[in-house]
Amino acid sequence: MCGIIAAVSSEEEVASILLEGLKREEYRGYDSAGVALLNGKGAIVVRKDAGRVGQLEQRYNFAELGGRVGIAHTRWATHGGVSQKNSHPHLSCKGLVAIVHNGIIENYLDLRKELQSRGHAFTSQTDSEVIAHLMEEEYEKDRDPVRATVAAAKVIRGQYAFVALFSDRPGLLVGARYDAPLVVGMGEKTKFLASDVLAFLAHTDMAIFLDNKEIVELTTEGARIFTLKGKELDARSRKATRVAWELGSLSKESYAHYTLKEIHEQPNSVQSALAQDPEIVSAVADRLKSAKSVVLTASGSSYHAALLMRIRLAAEAKMRCEVVLSGDFERELPFIDDETVVVALSQSGETADLLEAVKKAKSRKVGGVVSLVNAAGSSLARQSDQTLLLNCGPEVGVAATKSFTAQVMVGNLIIDKMTGKDTIGNPYKLGTLVEKALATEQMMSRLAHEYRDRADFYFIARGGHYPIAQEGALKLKELSYIHAEGMSAGELKHGTLALIEKGTPVVVIAPNGHGYDDTISNAQELAARGAEIIGVAQKTHPVFTHTVRIPASNGSFAPVLEVVPLQLLAYFMATERKNDPDHPRNLAKSVTVK
Ligand code: G6P
Repeated sequence: MCGIIAAVSSEEEVASILLEGLKREEYRGYDSAGVALLNGKGAIVVRKDAGRVGQLEQRYNFAELGGRVGIAHTRWATHGGVSQKNSHPHLSCKGLVAIVHNGIIENYLDLRKELQSRGHAFTSQTDSEVIAHLMEEEYEKDRDPVRATVAAAKVIRGQYAFVALFSDRPGLLVGARYDAPLVVGMGEKTKFLASDVLAFLAHTDMAIFLDNKEIVELTTEGARIFTLKGKELDARSRKATRVAWELGSLSKESYAHYTLKEIHEQPNSVQSALAQDPEIVSAVADRLKSAKSVVLTASGSSYHAALLMRIRLAAEAKMRCEVVLSGDFERELPFIDDETVVVALSQSGETADLLEAVKKAKSRKVGGVVSLVNAAGSSLARQSDQTLLLNCGPEVGVAATKSFTAQVMVGNLIIDKMTGKDTIGNPYKLGTLVEKALATEQMMSRLAHEYRDRADFYFIARGGHYPIAQEGALKLKELSYIHAEGMSAGELKHGTLALIEKGTPVVVIAPNGHGYDDTISNAQELAARGAEIIGVAQKTHPVFTHTVRIPASNGSFAPVLEVVPLQLLAYFMATERKNDPDHPRNLAKSVTVK
């Protein structure tokens, strides 16, 4: 995955800007970090190491490093272990070019051999380093940065966003993207290239979203954009746009972690998710209604939101409908044609598996791609026929929270439009209900303390609530590192019940209404085998060891109220176990590799 941030400025030194940008991008990976700056003497200085950005900052004195142009990187290792040598930036043999890269270069071994046979010496085991050597070789020919990038892009295979810094070009950077994100930030005095607008949003909210397969040459004067083949594009067609996300939402405010802050933003974010252009909602509803079948695709938490959407699409809108994990999309291809509409759900809009799924669907002449996505200008948004933005602001915590509930809301809005029902009602009331669900916070903190050392956790629910059991288990796994499973309640007796022992904690989601009695019977079966039942329900029941009371609501909003306490449980489990909830080990927020 990795995060890239690069800056070129006419007035200020950029080291601290780069470090700050890297911290904003740590959600993309955080096993090592590095910065390369061009100093006043025409030399590229590299400071990099394994560990987090904060550790890098402590290890080196960045204040003494001048330089108004530089590149930086936070890594999520793919090729080569976590070490100083494998950290980015990578420098070419003669120190002429330094690069940072996000993605995977599939043919790096062949390229490496060829470059070695021509005398290049490699210092890392990464796939990325080949780019630095290729760029140097080409750049030496005529000192043309764009031509060197075109030449490198011609031979590398795979997916990439990379940025290069040249030792003899103090006011210039080049970047290229192929199936990985790269955004240009157009500050007045300082211009940026980054994997994500969050990295430079503290300095400018004016952005140019590069299209896939484009190269950018960035100077303090502005950006020139080229195709990967080197053809320059008309500057008038590529104006900077203002990014709507507010700067305030980038700070943790008084919260200990972004994750907790984002959980607490949900009374507002469930409402802002509903602030959609009615014409687009109608057009999306019409498109879905006129389709013969709908295929929803997503990964991670977004997949669970898709499962919820499917349940209502089938039951209420009577749509023939499938949900496919984006990584498994291939299996659905035989059933996709011009009468199928694909709905893609994603927070980042950059998940590689999802983009690949959309690409495959398009190759089958699908009848339309609709996306529900948080990041405006993301690859997914740009590749969709219609996009509804989640409007929940930047989500920094690696575990999805407010983006998940926003997806549920946008899904509900579409389905209400399709069926002519109003299951949403007054959005303000929804905010109040979420506040009530948040009032479980102290209880969830106490439960986390009590259960912090358990090895396994189970979550069960029925029907339209089952995806919340899956989401609750996923949250707990990613934040606490405790093994957890989300099960359909009726399925327990077909195997998993064998794992229940005295004291095994089971979260039973048992809202009033259809399925309640059956779910309670399953809870009894569990309790009879020694399980401790944490009931998430509107009312207590003797079988519950603990009752987490959630407010009553109609069917379409219930999943939101059920998931909020589970998000809190996972968060407090992480803090109880001394994990960093914002940066769970081994994970990254935006998974841009397949
Ligand atoms: C990663 C994140 C998850 C997220 C999933 C899908 O695995 O850690 O929190 O749900 O990607 O991401 P997307 O941006 O497509 O929703």
